[in-house]
Amino acid sequence: MFKKTILGVLALAAFALGGATVQAADEYPHTDQQDWSFAGVFGTYDQNQLRRGFQVYREVCSSCHALEYISFRNLAEEGGPHYSEDQVRALAAEYTVVDEMADGGEREGVPADRWPHPFPSEQIAAEANGGKAPPDLSLMAKARGIHMDFPWWVFNYFTAYQEAGADYIYNLLVSYEEPPAGEELDAGLHYNSYYSGHAIAMAAPLADGIVSYADEATPETVEQYSRDVAAFLQWTADPHMVSRKSTGFMVILFLIGLSILMYLVKRRIWRDAH
Ligand code: HEC
Repeated sequence: MFKKTILGVLALAAFALGGATVQAADEYPHTDQQDWSFAGVFGTYDQNQLRRGFQVYREVCSSCHALEYISFRNLAEEGGPHYSEDQVRALAAEYTVVDEMADGGEREGVPADRWPHPFPSEQIAAEANGGKAPPDLSLMAKARGIHMDFPWWVFNYFTAYQEAGADYIYNLLVSYEEPPAGEELDAGLHYNSYYSGHAIAMAAPLADGIVSYADEATPETVEQYSRDVAAFLQWTADPHMVSRKSTGFMVILFLIGLSILMYLVKRRIWRDAH
């Protein structure tokens, strides 16, 4: 029985491997997977990186992209960027939010407000961006993933790989290039070797040096900005990832303990039965 199972698994592996090699190798772009602090069973978000990522989002991406599911006060949460209550209050007050109850329909932001939309409507957002409205980024890291050939994705179950969204965003942001000779792009589209179809309506948003980090030791490069903002967007999409992973780990430990106990109980109960 056991032998049969092993043989079955091997046959399946051989079949799938064969299938994977037949597939055109360049059908999917290569993903440069990053070493994320939040990777693995014991990974946690790096507070400094989340703060830098938020700074990149705020200074660059927020002019086009909303963060619909994030309120200012979320930025004070432990495990996240963890700003102080006062910092969040001051940050919110820098923004004007739409509020029908307020005099004139607008008022100063407070921590409970959602992140304000950069455009008054989807239509205006599309008109300002060559016909494509910039999508909301709060859940983007959950909405995108990367392609992996068999057998690599099988290992994801063991390494608790959940960083595909961050890897996608990083690779997208660092893959703007000149279009290959002879390839014409429609007006308003930009060549990105990682984006599916290679023609994206978002112009390269980052360039070396455009965001000044407080910590001088951190490089101010497109790669670093991309990694930081991708980590921040992973947090906005999955702020409870860390506690979920540690709960999962405790549950597995408990189940292993329970299995051993049940095995011993079974041996004791059946001790005299032959
Ligand atoms: C000038 C406006 C503008 C800025 C600034 C901008 N974007 Fe975009 N972004 C867009 C538009 C427009 C699209 C839709 C592209 C499309 O569908 O072709 C988009 C799409 C995206 C997507 C989705 C790509 C996909 O797979 O569909 C991501 C992720 C993204 N932007 C991240 C960012 C990040 C991170 C920043 C800041 C570093 C940023 N954007 C800055 C306009 C912008």
